[in-house]
Amino acid sequence: MKITMSVIKADIGSVGGHIAPSEKLLETVRKHVQDKGRGMLIDSYVSSTGDDVAILMTHTGGVDNAPVHKLAWEAFLAGTAVAKAQGLYGAGQDLLKDAFSGNVHGMGPAVTEMEFEERPGEPFLFFAADKTDPGAYNLPLYLAFGDAMNTPGLMLSPKMAKGFKFVIMDVNHTEGDRIIELSAPEDLYDIATLLRDPERFVVESVWSRAAGTQAVSVATSRLHNIAGKYTGKDDPVMLVRSQMDFPATGEVLQPFAIGHFVAGCMRGSHNMPIMPVKLNSTISYFDGPPVVSCATFCIRDGRLTGPVDAFDHPFWDRVRDHVADKAMDMRRQGFFGAAMLPMNELEYTGIMEKLAVLEQKFAVRTMKRAA
Ligand code: F6R
Ligand code: MG
Ligand code: MG
Repeated sequence: MKITMSVIKADIGSVGGHIAPSEKLLETVRKHVQDKGRGMLIDSYVSSTGDDVAILMTHTGGVDNAPVHKLAWEAFLAGTAVAKAQGLYGAGQDLLKDAFSGNVHGMGPAVTEMEFEERPGEPFLFFAADKTDPGAYNLPLYLAFGDAMNTPGLMLSPKMAKGFKFVIMDVNHTEGDRIIELSAPEDLYDIATLLRDPERFVVESVWSRAAGTQAVSVATSRLHNIAGKYTGKDDPVMLVRSQMDFPATGEVLQPFAIGHFVAGCMRGSHNMPIMPVKLNSTISYFDGPPVVSCATFCIRDGRLTGPVDAFDHPFWDRVRDHVADKAMDMRRQGFFGAAMLPMNELEYTGIMEKLAVLEQKFAVRTMKRAA
């Protein structure tokens, strides 16, 4: 059976700053999707990660399906009404346009979708990250799908021996989707050359070369490219199908034990390590640290079984402690050097205005030259 999985997510307001949506907001979105999605959706799952609400939907309508996108948009409008009534912070923050026009691309919410023929057993992982941006998944995907040091399946499984195709997007190009297709293993150095710059080049999808089927789909929107100014980071969602032709679930999860440094955290303007957290986790230290959650499911005829929380295991407690240490070490150097993002990535304009004033005060010292 051919199934479409759609994830549409937005920050529409939260309690106590940019921390977490309220129970009532979440319940309103959930109920809207259930009631209005009857006859359109096969199944759905509404969750929160930090201040973001994600709606995972299964259906047979294909990607960019107007009624499905409209359903999510209207669920977020209903949630925003609750956010406003409760005085939540940033109510409706990611809903950048007034009127719905076909699909939610370019309207603020992040979208990631995949259409595929269901396998007899169909496990998948639904990742949601907060206080960071889509490039945060570059390193875990490179390791899981390209590096035999991480993924023994690349050596041991004949199904994976042909490698994977990476579709990478230049997210700075706003006039349209500017993409490049590169294949691992032969293009690995080229893939690395692009993925080392996660603010510009972002993995959009990964495909099995042997089976020709899609394994990964990442939401690649950059909100400030839509709004033209800071509106929050583009806290990204990702779907990964695992096992058989694809890396095993554990091979996909392993890179998250690194706690790699990503862009985001306080005011979207820092480099901080990403922490794998349990489902429905909130945000705290320094408006962070950047977090990633992972709900795993199996799917049959579009019906979801799960979630099982992939990061709710004693192993990840140790990782979380390690990431907390890394985060505090980085914060010790405050604004200095690698702690903050480069100028063009700072999400608030205040520093630019300050620099413009200081520019005027600079003078070139005239030196007396020796005769
Ligand atoms: C980062 C984030 C927060 C806010 C910060 C200031 O993505 O959402 O770190 O940038 O709390 O928020 P405002 O400017 O809304 O007071
Ligand atoms: Mg926010
Ligand atoms: Mg967020």
